[in-house]
Amino acid sequence: MEKIIEIKKISRTFGEFKALNDVSLDIEKGTIFGLLGPNGAGKSTLIKVLSCQMRPTTGSAFISGLDVVSDKKDVLSIIGVVPQENSFYDELTVTENLRYFGSLYGVAVIDIKKRSHRILDMLRLTEKSSSRASTLSGGMKTRLNIACALIHKPEVLILDEPSVGLDPVSRRALWDTIREVNREGTTILITTHYMEEADLLCSRILIMHRGNIIVEGEPEELKGLIGERVIQITSTPGNYRSIIDRPDFPDSVSSGGINEKGLKITLKDEQALQQVINIFESSGETIINVESNRPSLEDVFIHFAKEEWH
Ligand SMILES: Nc1ncnc2c1ncn2[C@@H]1O[C@H](COP(=O)(O)OP(=O)(O)OP(=O)(O)O)[C@@H](O)[C@H]1O
Ligand SMILES: [Mg+2]
Repeated sequence: MEKIIEIKKISRTFGEFKALNDVSLDIEKGTIFGLLGPNGAGKSTLIKVLSCQMRPTTGSAFISGLDVVSDKKDVLSIIGVVPQENSFYDELTVTENLRYFGSLYGVAVIDIKKRSHRILDMLRLTEKSSSRASTLSGGMKTRLNIACALIHKPEVLILDEPSVGLDPVSRRALWDTIREVNREGTTILITTHYMEEADLLCSRILIMHRGNIIVEGEPEELKGLIGERVIQITSTPGNYRSIIDRPDFPDSVSSGGINEKGLKITLKDEQALQQVINIFESSGETIINVESNRPSLEDVFIHFAKEEWH
């Protein structure tokens, strides 16, 4: 594998508080890499370190072999950063913004022109090229924000929660955009709180919490870690607590907990389902509905939340 991002034992403290705790990670070139974790996990801090906006307290990180601290200028020329707040200028037009960001990165005027065409086409902004940025819709503003980060043809594009505030259609358009940028050879690092987005978009996922890495892998691999099937059982009268507490409740079944629909369980092997159903029946419960699904990334997130975070 060709590593494009290497993170070696990065820690970042704010006073006594450790926002990143000895994080080590390699990201392969060409990946769409998703960074997940609850509020305060350290995602933005890690992104700030990688994009030279914040120095690590200890440890080091490299992008394409360049040190994010000592080779800052060179690193900035090969990464594009899409911050959560729009970085373009409202009073400039779409094209003027690209020209401005291009010159900021030292891109030759002729290359800015060529590349602007390509980027506006890819981000479906061509029609708006002479519109003032302030007049764009929210989804278009997000795309312009990405366009500005792409003008110097970065090797790595870093996006911090780009889909916040987008409607479902714009969000899907954003995914297509990210996929297309990725197909052009750009490695993507993205943070998101939307599990479905991470699942559909990312080829690898990292879940972090309180500055620590909890788990990392391909989405399917992570789902396989928690079990084969997630079963949702609804019954009447619905004394789910007493069912979980029964001594004959199989150990191989991990309870995802009681929710508004009933009892959610994760099965490591499918035979255990019959055992659980028998327990429901011998407890005087009448089963109304059973849903069986492959674990979702949300199930993975919640599973590790329960195991590691309490
Ligand atoms: N400049 C700072 N000064 C003090 N504490 C900070 C600073 N920046 C971040 N922190 C703390 O570090 C922790 C991690 O913050 P960070 O912004 O990286 O979280 P996050 O994973 O991006 O969360 P969110 O999902 O809410 O964006 C938080 O507890 C935060 O309060
Ligand atoms: Mg953040």
